[in-house]
Amino acid sequence: MLILGIESSCDETAAAVLEDGRRVRSSIVASQDAVHAPYGGVVPELASRRHLEVIVPIVERALADAGVRLPDLDGIAVTHGPGLVGSLLVGCSLAKSLAWVGRTPLVGVNHLEGHIYAASLTDDPPDHPFLALVVSGGHTALYHAAAPLTYTLVGETRDDAAGEAFDKVAKLLALGFPGGPFIERVARNGSPTAIPFPMAQMSDQAPDFSFSGLKTAVSLHVKRNRPLGERDVADIAASFQAAAVKMLVRKTARAAVRLGVRRVVLTGGVAANTALRESLAAAAGEHGFHLHVPPRSLCTDNAAMIAAAGTARLAAGERAGMDLNAVPDLALAS
Ligand code: KG4
Ligand code: ZN
Repeated sequence: MLILGIESSCDETAAAVLEDGRRVRSSIVASQDAVHAPYGGVVPELASRRHLEVIVPIVERALADAGVRLPDLDGIAVTHGPGLVGSLLVGCSLAKSLAWVGRTPLVGVNHLEGHIYAASLTDDPPDHPFLALVVSGGHTALYHAAAPLTYTLVGETRDDAAGEAFDKVAKLLALGFPGGPFIERVARNGSPTAIPFPMAQMSDQAPDFSFSGLKTAVSLHVKRNRPLGERDVADIAASFQAAAVKMLVRKTARAAVRLGVRRVVLTGGVAANTALRESLAAAAGEHGFHLHVPPRSLCTDNAAMIAAAGTARLAAGERAGMDLNAVPDLALAS
């Protein structure tokens, strides 16, 4: 079974061909980082315009790299939400056109489900039930996957997404965009205990996350201690990263124990962060759950994960019609 995946929900244009839900025959990701870097964040109009420019050649390359022609495809899976509406529309329109021309089965995929399905592309795919921590630029949430394609929302951020916090702190420190990888690199030269940034305490003990207080604390610290030297920047980055990771790991470990799950998936762009990967792995050892973390290239936005989720949905008989639309606030579970 050959499925073409198409992803254009934010600032990566991606296409991939997946065989039998497991074997990545090709995966092309065109990053728009250079387009948005001068603005320190994603500019929606520029994002959709760039998607439009590159998406056809990206799909052609994914097909060529896989040695596949359109008529060989058994299905097309496209991200239809959540994300930027103009960006999503580019992928959806192309997917619908290709499906129409080739009379190929079409399915819409939730971007967050795609992130979770990245874990199924490893040598160690997670069996159900499992808990998934999805940490990206736009989302930070814990989902319980009781059975295939069945999710319950366990907890989510009450304000910023974790990736958003990394991006904003990097901007405060004038480190570049997107911030996560810059913070991670600079943090290596700093001390994670240099500055005791506060961790948000939920009065109701909910398994929710909050990053805005941490971001404000970093902002105040930066203002009070200007001008910052190289060492200060490294210490702030390391201390911020440690606080953000602590919040993510603590809430996830608690939820895993409370729900009695034996498997936890860590995925989404922020899951590329080494401190987070290591810290959650340590918690897994301590609390006795098995941690599934996709390789970094599958944690950040890509289309192989969309094809993987799409394969499962097509196999379950799901089909989208020509009325498939972009849904910017599409929910995975409630
Ligand atoms: O999943 P993703 O590629 O796109 C969205 O769906 O949002 O996630 C992008 C986010 C950005 O906020 C970026 O700064 C963050 O993931 N990120 C990281 C790292 N690599 C990417 N955050 C922390 N450490 C990293 N190494
Ligand atoms: Zn994403």
